[in-house]
Amino acid sequence: MPLDPGPVPPPQGHQTAPPISPEEFALLSELLYRHVGIRLKSAKQSLVQSRLRKRLAALGLDNWGRYYAYLVGHNAEIPHFLDALTTNETFFLREEEHWEFLRRHIVPEVAARRRGAEREFSVWSAAASSGEELYSAALVLQESLPLPEAWRLRLVGSDVNSEVLDRARQGRYGTYAVRNLPDKLRQRYFTPADEPPGVPGWQVAAHLRRHCRFVGHNLLQPFPETGFDLVLCRNVFIYFDQRAKERALSHLIPATTVGGYLMFSHTEALIPPMPNLERVRSSIYRRVR
Ligand SMILES: C[S@@+](CC[C@H](N)C(=O)[O-])C[C@H]1O[C@@H](n2cnc3c(N)ncnc32)[C@H](O)[C@@H]1O
Repeated sequence: MPLDPGPVPPPQGHQTAPPISPEEFALLSELLYRHVGIRLKSAKQSLVQSRLRKRLAALGLDNWGRYYAYLVGHNAEIPHFLDALTTNETFFLREEEHWEFLRRHIVPEVAARRRGAEREFSVWSAAASSGEELYSAALVLQESLPLPEAWRLRLVGSDVNSEVLDRARQGRYGTYAVRNLPDKLRQRYFTPADEPPGVPGWQVAAHLRRHCRFVGHNLLQPFPETGFDLVLCRNVFIYFDQRAKERALSHLIPATTVGGYLMFSHTEALIPPMPNLERVRSSIYRRVR
């Protein structure tokens, strides 16, 4: 007769993580704030727990105190921590008024300024997530620049989350992400591609993707490129407190060319006053010096 094997041991690295205590939550959220400026409200405790559960399991840890100690001692864990806790919701042509402003105001202004000069149009999507925002800018420029083939497009997307940047580089999207795109634009700038595998979706066409680059960057740090005609920093300041917004602005403004524009989201209209920024309309600003 076989011996009684006793109780089944829990699998390595709990699948169901233990609850986070308020002290553990405070430590983890302070660490997040220090790295990327995101302030988590205490109501987000269970969200944090569910988003980080996989990390606990992957590391074979059974409580949040140990996970915190691991994070503090292992820099290599930080990107996983940030990837798990950043919110990446985005879609093509989000906030139509911004694209309308680009078409009707910024493009004609830049086209007039660069007449005869080297024709470069540059856009930085500074919290690019999976790329929909930068590709939206690319296709609006293709549609609205006079003689688009005569322009060099310098289009850069950046984000602190490396997983979304990998998706941005692939440029593959499900039907939900492209729901706002008129059929005409989808046909011109996309090719059918499964996304996820086995489900029909779309990939940004190579002739549009070739203008777009994606790089890792934290908004709390200076950006290595400057001279942008348009800087998009939308739907990320809602997670920042005043100090983090000011710090990010101190890097976004110098990256914008004098006379260039910065766009935030309509939900984050409260941009701290900055001496070299003029408010053009709700959520659209211009660098004046
Ligand atoms: C909600 S998405 C917004 C995407 C796009 N801008 C839009 O409006 O649709 C916010 C993005 O900001 C990124 N993010 C958060 N904190 C950041 C930081 N400190 N530096 C760079 N990116 C950050 C997140 O990873 C996420 O992809």
